[in-house]
Amino acid sequence: MVPSGSIGLALWFLIFFSLSLTNPLEARGHFGRLAGKPPQRTASDGICASSVHIFGYKCEEHDVVTQDGYILNMQRIPEGRTGAGNPAKRQPVLIQHGILVDGISWLLNPADQNLPLILADQGFDVWMGNTRGTRFSKRHKYLNANQPAFWNWTWDELVSYDLPAMFDHIHGLTGQKIHYLGHSLGTLIGFTSFSEKGLVDKLKSAAMLSPIAYLSHMTTVLVDIAARSFLAEAIAIIGLAEFNPKSGIVGKLIKGICHDANIDCYDLLAVITGKNCCLNASTIDLFLANEPQSTSTKNMIHLSQTVRDKVLRKYNYGSSDRNMKHYGQALPPVYNISAIPHDLPLFFSYGGLDRLADVTDVKYLLDQFKFHNSDKMDVQFVKEYAHADFIMAVNAKDVVYNQVVTFFKRQA
Ligand SMILES: *[C@@H]1O[C@H](CO)[C@@H](O)[C@H](O)[C@H]1NC(C)=O
Ligand SMILES: *[C@@H]1O[C@H](CO)[C@@H](O)[C@H](O)[C@H]1NC(C)=O
Ligand SMILES: *[C@@H]1O[C@H](CO)[C@@H](O)[C@H](O)[C@H]1NC(C)=O
Repeated sequence: MVPSGSIGLALWFLIFFSLSLTNPLEARGHFGRLAGKPPQRTASDGICASSVHIFGYKCEEHDVVTQDGYILNMQRIPEGRTGAGNPAKRQPVLIQHGILVDGISWLLNPADQNLPLILADQGFDVWMGNTRGTRFSKRHKYLNANQPAFWNWTWDELVSYDLPAMFDHIHGLTGQKIHYLGHSLGTLIGFTSFSEKGLVDKLKSAAMLSPIAYLSHMTTVLVDIAARSFLAEAIAIIGLAEFNPKSGIVGKLIKGICHDANIDCYDLLAVITGKNCCLNASTIDLFLANEPQSTSTKNMIHLSQTVRDKVLRKYNYGSSDRNMKHYGQALPPVYNISAIPHDLPLFFSYGGLDRLADVTDVKYLLDQFKFHNSDKMDVQFVKEYAHADFIMAVNAKDVVYNQVVTFFKRQA
C-alpha cells in the first residue's frame, strides 16, 4: 500500500497546505500559527454557537449515528432571519464539505456571503454535514479515537455509512426529498453514492462545486514532489491511524516536501491549487483558527489510488488475494458515474484556475454525463476561480450561490 499512497498523500496535503497560504501576508507565519493559539471564534461550543447564532440565525445541533457506530454532528439552520416562506414547505438542503475541513468552513465569511445563511434566507431548511473524524464527529458508540480501529475507513465508508445516516435523519424529520450540495470530496462521495442509487429516492437534485471524481491531470510537479519525498516511509509509520495535519509528524512531512522538492512554500498556492481570486484576509485567519481537521490515513491512501487510476474504484487492499477476501474479486469494485439516473437535476460549477478540480479532469467527468437528460444538466464555468473560492470568495454569492439558489428553486 505504501508507494501508491505517497503521491496522493503529498498531493492532498499540499493542496490543503497551499489553501492555507492563500493570503501571502499570512504565509510566513503559517507554521507558527498552526502550532500557536487560535486567535478568535473557534468552535469549542459547537458550530451553531460559534458561527451561526452570532449572526442572529436559529441553529440546532443534531447527532446522527451511522450503521457502523460513528456519531456524526450536524447543524440545522431551519429558517432565515426573517422566517420567510411556508414552514411546511421549506425544502431541505444538505451541504457537504471537502477533505481536511469540517462544516464550519462554509460559515467563515460575513453572513451575507455565507452559502448556508444565504440558502436559509432564501427559504431553505439548511443542514450541514461533518464527516467522521472531524472534531465534532470524532465519536463512536464503542470505539474511541485513540484506537486504530476508529480510523479504519476511507471515502467508501462516507458513501456507505455517513451519507445514508445524514439523508435518513433529514428525510425522517422533514419527510421531504433533499437537495444535495457538495464541494470537492463532498462531490466525489455524492457522485459515487448516487451512482449506486441507494439515496436517489430521497434526493431531489445535486449541486456540485469544484467537482472531483477523476484526478489524473494534476500537475506533474506534484508527482515529482511525491517521488522525491520520503512520504512512503512516513505512511508506513503512521499506519492505520488518524491523519492529523496539526500533528508533529505531518508538520515534518510538509517541511520535508518543500525542502526535498526545492520548492519555495511561499509560492505553493500558485504551483498547486492555482490562485484563488477572491478571499478575505480575515476569513483566512478564521480558517486557520478552525481548520485543518483530521481524516484517516487510509482515506488519504484511497484518494491517492483515485489520483492514479482513471477508473473510480473502492479501496485497493494492495493484492488480489486481499481484494478477493474483502470484495470476492481481484480488483476492487468500480463506481460507475454514468449510472447516476439520467433525470437527476444536476448543477456543476468549476473554476478555470482550480488545479485540484482541474479543467481537463472536470471535462472528463462531464463526459460521463453525455447520456444525461440535457435539460437536467446545468454547467457553470468560472474562469477566475480556484478551489477555495467556491467556499469562501467574497463575491461567491453573485458568481455562484445565486445560481445555486435559482437551480434549487427550479426543482420545486
Ligand atoms: C472581510 O471580512 C471581515 C470580517 O468578517 C468583514 O468585516 C469585511 O467586510 C470583509 N471584507 C469584504 C470585502 O467582504
Ligand atoms: C479494518 O477493517 C477490515 C474490514 O474492512 C478488517 O478486515 C480489519 O481487521 C480492520 N482492522 C482493524 C485494525 O480494525
Ligand atoms: C455504467 O452505467 C451505464 C448506464 O447505466 C451503462 O450503460 C454502462 O454499461 C455502465 N458501465 C459499466 C462499465 O458497467
